[in-house]
Amino acid sequence: MTIKTFALGGDLTINRLGFGAMRLVADSVDGPPRDPGTGIAVLRRAVELGVNHIDTAGFYRRGAVQANELIRRALSPYRDDLVIASKVGPLPTPDGVLSGHARPDQLRSLVEADLRSLGLDWLDLVYLRADGMTEPAGGSIAERFAVLAELREQGLIRHLGVSNVNAAQLAEAQEIAPVAAVQNRYADDVGLLAECEDAGIAYVPYFPLGGGVSPLDAERLSAIAARLGATAVQVHLASLLAISPSLLAIPGTGSLDHLEENVAANDLSLDDGEADPVTPSR
Ligand SMILES: NC(=O)c1ccc[n+]([C@@H]2O[C@H](COP(=O)([O-])OP(=O)(O)OC[C@H]3O[C@@H](n4cnc5c(N)ncnc54)[C@H](OP(=O)(O)O)[C@@H]3O)[C@@H](O)[C@H]2O)c1
Repeated sequence: MTIKTFALGGDLTINRLGFGAMRLVADSVDGPPRDPGTGIAVLRRAVELGVNHIDTAGFYRRGAVQANELIRRALSPYRDDLVIASKVGPLPTPDGVLSGHARPDQLRSLVEADLRSLGLDWLDLVYLRADGMTEPAGGSIAERFAVLAELREQGLIRHLGVSNVNAAQLAEAQEIAPVAAVQNRYADDVGLLAECEDAGIAYVPYFPLGGGVSPLDAERLSAIAARLGATAVQVHLASLLAISPSLLAIPGTGSLDHLEENVAANDLSLDDGEADPVTPSR
């Protein structure tokens, strides 16, 4: 049976099926802002349904619609068991289009901005989102990760993560401070996932539903879905969760119907052969 929870950083128990907040603000990189009222309703329903891991970032914004602000308006005062994870690194234009990467000396103010917009005294998990659009650009992250490690020492951050990294960058970060989570695009990352599993690190694939850019294997999924009376998306999410007990899913949606569908994937029981990895192709 699939284990439904994971102890993030060894001490924060979260449900492995979480929520990605990026789609609350827009459905595509150049799409219009979405309705904030719907975003707030989606967040409240997610928590009602048992989601207690929300992945966000200060740079998830489109026009006046900002994910962190929606989260604060929807969910604060926060439940004790809610884990909000943020990312710093990319620098956005006011409209949320990524325009570069923060220098080490800019990271503290980005973390402080997240604390303000979310209305928190500390952040449970902050990833250093390293360079590269959809795959790691490589290069040293030591100087930037050390800044986050210092903020952790100062109590502004509870656990640290790295995102869009290769094995060498993960090892470099681990030399500086404990890493609680890796958030990468899953496509070719099987080796790093195994390493995370061994080290008790959460592995969080972004674009868990293909991000709207990589199609799911509809034919294969639909056959299993028909047997189970489920949808192809649900079978895909259940298969993803079956890959490893260290894998956390953060499907993103700005739709109440899709949210209900995605969270219900948690209750699907796949047969052995059906749980083969179903990674969206690039
Ligand atoms: N670290 C990084 O570099 C990085 C990069 C990208 C994303 N992320 C994180 O990963 C999270 C997930 O990624 P993502 O949101 O980009 O992509 P995703 O979860 O793979 O896919 C989201 C897309 O699928 C649609 N969708 C969701 N549920 C659906 C369903 N049941 N049926 C049909 N379509 C459905 C959404 O549209 P609707 O909104 O209309 O449902 C949206 O277009 C983000 O929210 C963000 O927190 C991190």
